[in-house]
Amino acid sequence: MKKIVPDRLPTHVAIIMDGNGRWAKQQKLKRVEGHRVGIDSVRNITEACHEFGIPYLTLYAFSKENWSRPREEVKTLMYLLGLYLENELPFMMEKGVRLNIIGEKKDFSKTLQAQFDHVMKETAANSNVVLTIALSYSGRREIIRAVKLISEDLKCGRIKRIDDRAFKKYLYAPDIPDPDLLIRTSGEMRVSNFLLWQIAYTEMYVTDILWPDFRREAFLDALREFAKRERRFGNIKEF
Ligand code: FPP
Repeated sequence: MKKIVPDRLPTHVAIIMDGNGRWAKQQKLKRVEGHRVGIDSVRNITEACHEFGIPYLTLYAFSKENWSRPREEVKTLMYLLGLYLENELPFMMEKGVRLNIIGEKKDFSKTLQAQFDHVMKETAANSNVVLTIALSYSGRREIIRAVKLISEDLKCGRIKRIDDRAFKKYLYAPDIPDPDLLIRTSGEMRVSNFLLWQIAYTEMYVTDILWPDFRREAFLDALREFAKRERRFGNIKEF
C-alpha cells in the first residue's frame, strides 16, 4: 500500500548515510558493494524529496576522517563519486536538482574537482531540490574556518559585531536553512562531526535500516515521525 505523505514536512533534511559496510557483509559481498548500492539510495531519496516537495537535502558522503580508511576503499569511493557525478547529471536536470558541495574540495583530485565544478555549473539554475553533498567534511573544521574568516573581517572593519546571523554567513553554505530533520541510518546514536553549528535545534531520527536499504518507504516513516514532533526551539509549550 502506498504510504500517505504527511502534511507537515521538513524544509531541509540532512542524512548521515551509514551502514554500507555492514550491509555488504550481511550480503556476503565486499564493502565497496555497499557503497555502490548506497548510490541507488542517494538517487531514490533525492527523487523522493522532489516528489514530496522537500527543497533541501544534505548528505554526509565522505568525512575528513574517512581519508584514513584503507587505501583501496578510499580509491573505490573516489571512483564511485566520479561515476556518480558523470551518471547523475541527466537525472538532476530532469528533476530540477541543484548540486552543491560543502567541505574541502581542494582535498580531492583535480579531475574530481573539475567534475564538481562542471555539475554545479550545469545545475546552477535548477530550483526544485538543492542537493548538498558533504565531502571531506568536518563540522569542527567548518567552525574553525568560519572563526578565522570572521576575525579577519572584524580586524579590517568589514563587520562590526558577531552574532548567530553574522556567524552563519561564514559557513560553507550560508544560504541554506538549518536542517529541520537529521536522519542517521544503521542505528548509531552519534552526530559524527556533521553540521555541528547547523543542527542546534534539529530533530533527530535514527533508524536501524542500513543505508543501501533506506528507500522511499523508510524515508516516509522518518517524515511521519517528524510530523509528530513538537518543536520548541528552547521555548516552553505554553506561556
Ligand atoms: C558509511 O558506511 C558510508 C560512507 C562512509 C560513504 C557513503 C557513500 C555512499 C553512499 C556512496 C557514494 C555517495 C555519493 C553521493 C556518490 P560505512 O562504510 O561506514 O558502513 P559501516 O559502518 O557499516 O562499515
